[in-house]
Amino acid sequence: MSLHTLLFVTAALSLCVCCTCTPSYFDKILLHSRIRGSKQGSNVCAVQHVEGTDKKYFSNCKQWYSRQICGKPTVVSYECCPGYERVKNIEGCTAISPIVNMHETLGKVGALSTKSFSNQSELQLRLEGEGVYTMFAPSNEAWQLLPEEHRESLLSNINVELLNALHYHMVTQRLLTGDLFSGAVLTSMYEKQPLYINHYRNGIVTVNCARLVKPNFLATNGVVHLIDRVIGPVSNTIGEIVDYYEELEELTKLVNKAGLQDMLSADGPLTLFAPSNAAFAKLSQTTLRRITNNPEELKALILNHVLHTMRCTESFLGPTPLHSAEGAKLTVNCDAIGLKINGNINIQRKDVVATNGVIHIIDELIVPDAVKDMVDVAETYGVNEFTKLLTRVGLRDRLSRGDSITVLAPKNEALKELPRMPQHESKKLAEQHLVQGRYLSRDLYHGQLLESLSGTSLRVFVYHRALCIENACVDIRDKPMRNGALFILDGIIRPPTAPIIDILSSDKRFSILVNWFTRAGLHEQLREPGEMTLFAPTNEALQSMAPAKLARLRRNREELAEFLRAHLSQGVLVRGGMVPVGTNLVTSTKGTPLEVKVVNIHV
Ligand SMILES: *[C@@H]1O[C@H](CO)[C@@H](O)[C@H](O)[C@H]1NC(C)=O
Repeated sequence: MSLHTLLFVTAALSLCVCCTCTPSYFDKILLHSRIRGSKQGSNVCAVQHVEGTDKKYFSNCKQWYSRQICGKPTVVSYECCPGYERVKNIEGCTAISPIVNMHETLGKVGALSTKSFSNQSELQLRLEGEGVYTMFAPSNEAWQLLPEEHRESLLSNINVELLNALHYHMVTQRLLTGDLFSGAVLTSMYEKQPLYINHYRNGIVTVNCARLVKPNFLATNGVVHLIDRVIGPVSNTIGEIVDYYEELEELTKLVNKAGLQDMLSADGPLTLFAPSNAAFAKLSQTTLRRITNNPEELKALILNHVLHTMRCTESFLGPTPLHSAEGAKLTVNCDAIGLKINGNINIQRKDVVATNGVIHIIDELIVPDAVKDMVDVAETYGVNEFTKLLTRVGLRDRLSRGDSITVLAPKNEALKELPRMPQHESKKLAEQHLVQGRYLSRDLYHGQLLESLSGTSLRVFVYHRALCIENACVDIRDKPMRNGALFILDGIIRPPTAPIIDILSSDKRFSILVNWFTRAGLHEQLREPGEMTLFAPTNEALQSMAPAKLARLRRNREELAEFLRAHLSQGVLVRGGMVPVGTNLVTSTKGTPLEVKVVNIHV
């Protein structure tokens, strides 16, 4: 490694990975922003401003390079890191801000509306007096976002309603971001109502799903965090909220039918992507009926809308992979238009906070593969040649009813090369790729025999980097479907039809080799049942050996046998089981090491 790359690597590490201390996720992001801003002077932080919005973020590594947040371009600006100020004519932010009381600090973070409400409601007296507080202070824009009538009702009763609302944003302790960990429930000053904290790996911190846009402004008697929304007390569970919303009537019915109402009311944290009535109407009603009449499928469908974590929408800054409670992968993306789940499902109403998590209402069902028909799942993964074959030989219906089945579907390219064959042969071929029972790769082991519908047993081979069924290796594994699972193979399964010696004998290219095995007395070994791999030299290869060596092998039977044993190894090593780059180490039956490398020549 050259000095240059070494320096680069060290620099990259110090920028993107944290040091030996264990700061909070937010602190790590701030550290990164500070390093990015350091060229502009000391205590300068790089901030990414999302174009066309008023959103600003301290920059993490990924965003720094992509200059994008949620698919929207960002502009970098340089600001004083929290707690520092500029001094005239001096580069950077060299002055440490004087610490003032909470009320004055509201002014410093720019929470001018909150400051003015504090004055009007006489909260100011408290914020200037004895005690210690944390205040999640709504920004000016946050107050503007509040529905008109809501704002008016607060402002028409300043000494009760507005003061209560402000107290709900406060805690009687000084809590910095390092103290605000995910799952923390704080006790607010308004009737001890709970405040729900989330602190995500990407440095986003939320309280009741409102984002801390400017955290940690220290005051003499506490700390102010500027937040992007006005928050209100939360008193219902997800289950209760779902029950209450008319647009979630369908969901309520099915949750009850599936017996999952307790789960939605149990302790969280949970996220529910709640499909609206309209979402249920979008699914084919036959499919919906089929799913809802099958308890397992109904349960899988509903659990696919649940996460065992609380994800507020502010925590999504780019494509975010998630795991549903059903076990499937979901991706939440945010782009210029808005938030989407799995590419096309819209979040219509976001961040309805509950005592045990959060609800986002969505306009389409997130149907897990586990409740889809084989054909639909197969076509999702692009293996429609195999489903065409199943239709042609009349096996397609067999898959949508009855016992569970594991489908080992060869990829399209493999089936396209197939010559025409009589119907009964096509059917047998198709059946050879269907296995009784539902298997996932975690259920399979080396040497296992799988019973195919054709009656042929298929051998399973487990390799370091591959899982193979006979000669065909798995490209895509473990896709669940109704009544079973789907694997996609790199080729057609061709179960063995004869022992090694017979296969060699039927191929003219190996006539010398067969002759040598016979002469060395090893020829029966190639007929016995067992597992071995023969690296078989062709006539051409054998004839190209040095004449002296050839002559010796012809003369000396012992030496010939040794020579042949060096080409044999224990166990079955199929081509797809070898690593394509690098060396596959194999021991020959002679005891010598063989270094097997893959080259792209088809025999
Ligand atoms: C509100 O602000 C005014 C003007 O600065 C000040 O005179 C008054 O005392 C403040 N009210 C409270 C309750 O502190």
